[in-house]
Amino acid sequence: VKLYIPRDSAALSVGAEKVARAFASEISARSLDATIVRNGSRGLFWLEPMIEVETAQGRVAYGPVKPSDVASLFDGGLMTGANHALCLGKTEDLPFLKNQTRLTFARCGVIDPLSLDDYKAHGGLTGLTNAVAMAPADIVVQVTESGLRGRGGAGFPTGIKWKTVLDTAGDRKYIVCNADEGDSGTFADRMIMEGDPFVLIEGMVISGIATGARKGFVYLRSEYPHAIATMTQAVEIARTAGILGASVLGSAHVFDMEIRTGAGAYVCGEETALLNSLEGKRGIVRAKPPLPAHKGLFNCPTVINNVISLASVPVIMDKGAAFYKDFGMGRSRGTIPIQIAGNVKQGGLYETAFGLTLGEIIDTIGGGTATGRPVKAVQVGGPLGAYFPRALFDTPFDYEAFAAKNGLIGHAGIVVFDDTADMLKQARFAMEFCAVESCGKCTPCRIGSTRGVETADKIAMGIEPEKNKALLTDLCNTMKFGSLCALGGFTPYPVMSAMNHFPDDFAPAPLVEAAE
Ligand code: NAI
Ligand code: SF4
Repeated sequence: VKLYIPRDSAALSVGAEKVARAFASEISARSLDATIVRNGSRGLFWLEPMIEVETAQGRVAYGPVKPSDVASLFDGGLMTGANHALCLGKTEDLPFLKNQTRLTFARCGVIDPLSLDDYKAHGGLTGLTNAVAMAPADIVVQVTESGLRGRGGAGFPTGIKWKTVLDTAGDRKYIVCNADEGDSGTFADRMIMEGDPFVLIEGMVISGIATGARKGFVYLRSEYPHAIATMTQAVEIARTAGILGASVLGSAHVFDMEIRTGAGAYVCGEETALLNSLEGKRGIVRAKPPLPAHKGLFNCPTVINNVISLASVPVIMDKGAAFYKDFGMGRSRGTIPIQIAGNVKQGGLYETAFGLTLGEIIDTIGGGTATGRPVKAVQVGGPLGAYFPRALFDTPFDYEAFAAKNGLIGHAGIVVFDDTADMLKQARFAMEFCAVESCGKCTPCRIGSTRGVETADKIAMGIEPEKNKALLTDLCNTMKFGSLCALGGFTPYPVMSAMNHFPDDFAPAPLVEAAE
């Protein structure tokens, strides 16, 4: 019998390691014929540690499991998937999972992340096998026609980026995977690297073949030690198996890759600062042009894509562009792994076609707030994303629909706040975050963010609030239009959305002296 116990960061953070040890000792004490597989999690975080047992009817889930529950689970007939107070039924029937469309995350939580056999048994390497037999330009056409857009946040068409690199002459070209997932409330990159690392490797190899790059780097944040360990092992395994190296899957294609660790600065998720860091320089933003696609890593043509963009390529090359494009709405094609976090009852990762409304995601899928209080605001797209009030909950999850409401999808992280949230404090936090993380290269961001904090403080203290609100608006416009990169340029989104949608929070009680 196989028992699945996740070992990704999400599960480990709530005690999965102790649970796994308790299972191992109970199995040995009872001399049971059971094997523990350490999988990735399924992304139902409120049920973690969620363990699964393989039965003739499929996998049965139990959770959240504590070490003290283990003996009673075996007493109750766990090995046959018997009922128990912690039994959640068949995993695939859990509504949170059943209603998803898992294309990119299809194997995550299902397979042993470091078993290549498991990977292949669940459709892995089919996309790459197809790609090695194709002309590079045809691969680029497939990716373009699939409608895949950059999942890091900007939503730039992946195929067009690849075509730019393919069409740019260069002796050396590079594939760089941006795994510096820095947005608050996001964890999709980490989850897939820990739960299905080969899919990212496969996507990078395909990207290399498509553009003529022979070398790839994954720039991974140091705060992700488990992802670093899993990716490093997976690269070794892939190299030994001939997926990487001088002859990719026995073909004439050459591609190898390395995992590189960043020291942990938010701005190093900005592509040009990332490239500087990868070159061993200080992580400061470079002016564009030149685009990295023309002059990127070590001045060579470089594809720089987010983890999820690259990990979505294998399924496109396996099932075809038309299959992928069939999901979604408008110009947002395919699926998106939405990460639901903050004050929410059912937090986790939910992969679905674009088009669900924000209200469906928060109320139906997320189940409302964990505190049970009304939802006041949700921040979509990380610390640089706008705060949306309930009045905008009919907005469909789509790049253009969010932009039309002065927001952004970003890396598809959603953080939920209940009615106790103080939106002026949140606006101040956005400015403070920008001040702390600014690389300092341009004035609107470097100086503007510090002035923004001071101005928010003045509003909070009731000092000339109307004048200071106008000043904050002016400052936001300067930062939005005058900053060199998205850090300074997008900080106005949370600030202005907080001010526009929650004006009451910007009209603090009068000063004590005035009240007296
Ligand atoms: P951008 O719009 O400047 O560029 C998007 C991408 O398209 C870049 O890779 C750029 O090099 C490429 N590109 C543009 N024109 C091209 C062309 N003609 N040919 C080939 N490539 C071309 O946006 P940027 O500054 O790269 O990203 C901003 C986004 O990053 C924001 O929307 C934000 O949501 C997101 N973000 C994500 C974070 C995360 O943790 N994932 C953290 C912070 C921000
Ligand atoms: Fe650096 Fe901020 Fe300017 Fe970006 S906006 S280049 S982080 S100073």
